[in-house]
Amino acid sequence: MTETLADIAQALVVDGKGILAADESTGTIKKRFDSISTESTDSSRRDYRELLFRAPGIERYISGVILYDETLRQTAADGTPLAKVLQDQNIIPGIKVDLGAKTLAGHPGETITEGLDGLRDRLNEYAGLGAKFTKWRGVYHITDESPSFAAIHANAHALARYAALAQEAGMVPIVEPEILMDGEHDINVCQAVSEEVLRSVFAELANQEVELEGILLKPNMVIAGQDCPEQNSVDDVAERTLDTLKRCVPAAVPGIVFLSGGQSDELATAHLNAMNKLGRNLPWKLSFSYGRALQAAPLLAWGGKSENATAMQAAFIKRAEDNSKAATGTYA
Ligand code: 13P
Repeated sequence: MTETLADIAQALVVDGKGILAADESTGTIKKRFDSISTESTDSSRRDYRELLFRAPGIERYISGVILYDETLRQTAADGTPLAKVLQDQNIIPGIKVDLGAKTLAGHPGETITEGLDGLRDRLNEYAGLGAKFTKWRGVYHITDESPSFAAIHANAHALARYAALAQEAGMVPIVEPEILMDGEHDINVCQAVSEEVLRSVFAELANQEVELEGILLKPNMVIAGQDCPEQNSVDDVAERTLDTLKRCVPAAVPGIVFLSGGQSDELATAHLNAMNKLGRNLPWKLSFSYGRALQAAPLLAWGGKSENATAMQAAFIKRAEDNSKAATGTYA
């Protein structure tokens, strides 16, 4: 039987599993490596990611890994392509396909994500290299003046054009509209902006005739800005996030996989757990597609030293297992 987009999307959010976002661009991974005083070279990046992908037990908690272009083309130290290292463990390789958020003309401080030109050819190449799903991240900044109508609509349009192209190439698009946590705004502002952004994204997905059964949504949680003096309880964040998603996300979408977005790793886990515990007859699976919340601990344990490999892998598996429990509401 041929595998449909809906089959791939459902496999990515199968009970108790979620996605590892390991698609840091060369610039972003350098920042992460700088924090542990490790030089970022193609071989150090390969070694680090190979350790993650070969962590014993990873296949129990991780359904898919989002890769960066370089990683999808790299081989492990023994010559096995890194994508095959994943496939051999029944983990689905995915690929980040956007080319980054660039300043939106006429709107200093706001961004539009680029990468649509030539995307069809790149997608076909990635499918040939084994990727079955893709990611595109739109970024929204909360200030007194933003996000503007222009930024909301330009990013929604790009996300929908991308999603249609990914489905045409036979890959599941992860649609990621990220409202940043930067700022002093309270949770009410984040909720209002999240609703407006999600409504515009689903309107554009409908305009581009994207098949909702074959996408995953990767949103921010509804949460006060990092510099807001009033931070809400775990249950408040869970309630507000669920309220917002129920208002805006059609029931045909098979899964919602959150980004961690600079929350501490433990809070990101607690919030996901609280949402799944509340349950409330949700039409979609709720799981994770975390970058920092899965990698902060192993990065620190590794410190760029091969002798720390075992400790690094154990730290990663602990975070993966905790988030797996949170994806079923059983994390304590
Ligand atoms: P964080 O979980 O670190 O926010 O990363 C997820 C991601 O893929 C951002 O695009």
